[in-house]
Amino acid sequence: MKILGIESSCDETAASVYADRKILSNIIASQAIHEKFGGVVPELASRAHHTSIMRTVDQALTEAGTGLDDIDGIAVANGPGLMGSLLVGLSFAKGLAVANNIPLIGVNHIDAHMYANFIEHEEVYPFVALIVSGGHTRLVYTEKLFYHKLLGKTRDDAAGEAFDKIGKILNLPYPAGPVVDRLSRDGDGSFHQFPRSMIDNGLDFSFSGLKTSVLYYVQDAGEKFVQKNLNNICASISEAITDVLVEKLKKAVNKTGVQNVMVAGGVSANSMLRNKIMVYASETGLNLMIPSIQYCTDNAAMIAITGALKMRENLQDDLTLKPFARIEN
Ligand code: KG4
Ligand code: ZN
Repeated sequence: MKILGIESSCDETAASVYADRKILSNIIASQAIHEKFGGVVPELASRAHHTSIMRTVDQALTEAGTGLDDIDGIAVANGPGLMGSLLVGLSFAKGLAVANNIPLIGVNHIDAHMYANFIEHEEVYPFVALIVSGGHTRLVYTEKLFYHKLLGKTRDDAAGEAFDKIGKILNLPYPAGPVVDRLSRDGDGSFHQFPRSMIDNGLDFSFSGLKTSVLYYVQDAGEKFVQKNLNNICASISEAITDVLVEKLKKAVNKTGVQNVMVAGGVSANSMLRNKIMVYASETGLNLMIPSIQYCTDNAAMIAITGALKMRENLQDDLTLKPFARIEN
């Protein structure tokens, strides 16, 4: 089964071809235009998707050495995400599907982040997944394919959003997550003890307190001090965020008694988080699924594999498929 995946839910236009448990191509057109605004501008994102979607899909097919006549299903992210951005990918996918008589499969972007793990890991259940992206921070218990139970979620900022907003306070470019990560590698994480929000409470998260704490810290310390100690400050922030994420993951694992643990979403590319979770998994003998870096942040390979899983379960859609901006809870 050969699946074309299309992703346009935020600021990456992406297309990928998946067949026989292999990713044959994985093309991502990133939108640099948002950098100067310090965040994604929805209208500009839609326009940029519109400009690049045709050639991105073309390139994915060419690189996979295939044509539309060989494609068995077109999988497209139909939410959650920015409505205008989703509509570009969805309309394009519908057009391709109807013109070439190919089944259409709507894919939930958050599910796709999780199932990206099955590109490189065996499909096993049940598992606990920590999903950490720019828009979401969630802990779920997945009993079987597409059956998730929400264990906890953020009450304010998502983990990636926290990295980005704190990075903005430190005058770092958008998206700041990868920059904070890089700077942290040469820093001392014990330099300053930032708050570990809600670490002793249930499985929900909160990162806005940390953001406020960094803001006050930077205002008190002054620009010169912050610049001089930027690596140490970034490392201290990364320690605070990743401590909370790992602690909550541990709680969820203990509560559910699972043997399989999954990490997904853009922040799963974070080196400190990866290290801490790898140490935890190896100390406890858990089966850890974490994507290689290229499948952590937004991509269409994750859409294509999730589309293939849905096809396998006969969960195709039709042309009435609608985009949705948010998930229910
Ligand atoms: O999953 P993703 O690509 O898009 C969403 O679905 O939101 O996640 C993007 C988020 C951004 O907030 C970005 O700063 C963060 O993931 N991110 C990172 C790293 N790489 C991406 N955060 C921390 N460390 C990283 N290495
Ligand atoms: Zn994403």
